[in-house]
Amino acid sequence: MKPAGLDAIETASRDEISGLQLERLRWSLRHAYNGNPAYRAKFDAAGVHPDDLKSLEDLRRFPFTTKADLRDAYPFNFFAVPMERIARVHASSGTTGKATVVGYTLRDIETWSNLVARSIFAAGGRPGMKAHIAYGYGLFTGGMGAHYGAERLGCTVIPMSGGQTEKQVQLITDFAPDIIMVTPSYMLAILDEFKRQGLDPANSSLQTGIFGAEPWTEAMRTEIETAFGLDAVDIYGLSEVMGPGVAQECIETKDGLTVWEDHFYPEIIDPETGDVLPDGAEGELVFTSLTKEAMPVIRYRTRDLTRLLPGTARSMRRMAKITGRSDDMMIIRGVNVFPSQIEELVLSFPALAPHFEVQLTRPDRMDIVQIRLETRAQSDEEMLATLASAVAHRVKALIGISARIHILPPGTLPRSQGKAARVTDLR
Ligand code: DLL
Repeated sequence: MKPAGLDAIETASRDEISGLQLERLRWSLRHAYNGNPAYRAKFDAAGVHPDDLKSLEDLRRFPFTTKADLRDAYPFNFFAVPMERIARVHASSGTTGKATVVGYTLRDIETWSNLVARSIFAAGGRPGMKAHIAYGYGLFTGGMGAHYGAERLGCTVIPMSGGQTEKQVQLITDFAPDIIMVTPSYMLAILDEFKRQGLDPANSSLQTGIFGAEPWTEAMRTEIETAFGLDAVDIYGLSEVMGPGVAQECIETKDGLTVWEDHFYPEIIDPETGDVLPDGAEGELVFTSLTKEAMPVIRYRTRDLTRLLPGTARSMRRMAKITGRSDDMMIIRGVNVFPSQIEELVLSFPALAPHFEVQLTRPDRMDIVQIRLETRAQSDEEMLATLASAVAHRVKALIGISARIHILPPGTLPRSQGKAARVTDLR
């Protein structure tokens, strides 16, 4: 017997799910075409019409949507309903230029709340539990997305938002929440603060942590689970597609994230050619929204790299933990390196704290990599030198690059308050 989710569709037959997807996909394509001139122009230019979709496979004939398309429509020209029907906007900051603005009708917010409620349930959350929300509130979708979902499920919501780390610890201690929703890197800052206050995090009331908004590794899962004695599960989403709750890892299996396929149709493509790849192959994740009203996305290129896998705890397909974004990949002297590889390596040294910073420079047409790390406890010069050389050795052996390793005393590296920025590329 498959464990039941919050909604019956999570464990429906594949036929039922595909049937629903096809029906909703037809609606979504038509809605985008009729409601948004940018989509109409794109479809017309590609010589396709919503009526051409006879099967789910026909979707590959439709053009991709990119972040650039959304930026060109700044701020509100990507909406497919009149402005009066937009109940809320959010925006993702992006590293360069203008923010990407996204919009929701009241019904979209309803759908989103239901999907985050479903996600929290899959993570082990139940009505009546207390949920501490430390994702940032505001234009970022994390705080309000988690908030509405937790409230919808019937939890008591503690809308703490990000930052004020001392107060985070105080509220966790005093209010005794069962669930925490926060970025994994900020959870580490909260962990440090527990220790700084002389509190044992393992004695906290937290049972489940729902971590996302940035990549994190299995090694990080072990780190956080061991320190707090909780179950750490992954939540994925992006503003353009909705926000948190596009996919959620189930607590029963902790084996990657179930994509809520009744609302989002996933594809994996070869990022170079745009060809659709079979399930199981690694490539760029692409999403088509099936029910969104305010801002439908058709074949939106996320730039996130992962694989699609068959369902386990649910009938819907899973995506593997995100390896990284194609734009986060560093090319160092010809070798492709993801920050997640460095995270995993750092966490394989018991003496090192789970923090790191990478700086890339190119002084004489040669890439120089500097990795700044931190020890968990005070150590003497000799120990630091031995550790640095062991790390450099492992970086060379496992990642294939030569790096200059700097190991600093505990508490030296800056801590994340939301999404961690670990790489500075000055090349
Ligand atoms: O980060 C939405 C979110 C909030 C997800 C809270 C989960 C929890 P954006 O700011 O638009 O939206 O950033 C989206 O963050 O394309 C990924 O690159 C990355 N990302 C989000 N969740 C994960 C995850 C929110 N679980 C971008 N693992 C996405 C890895 C993630 N990367």
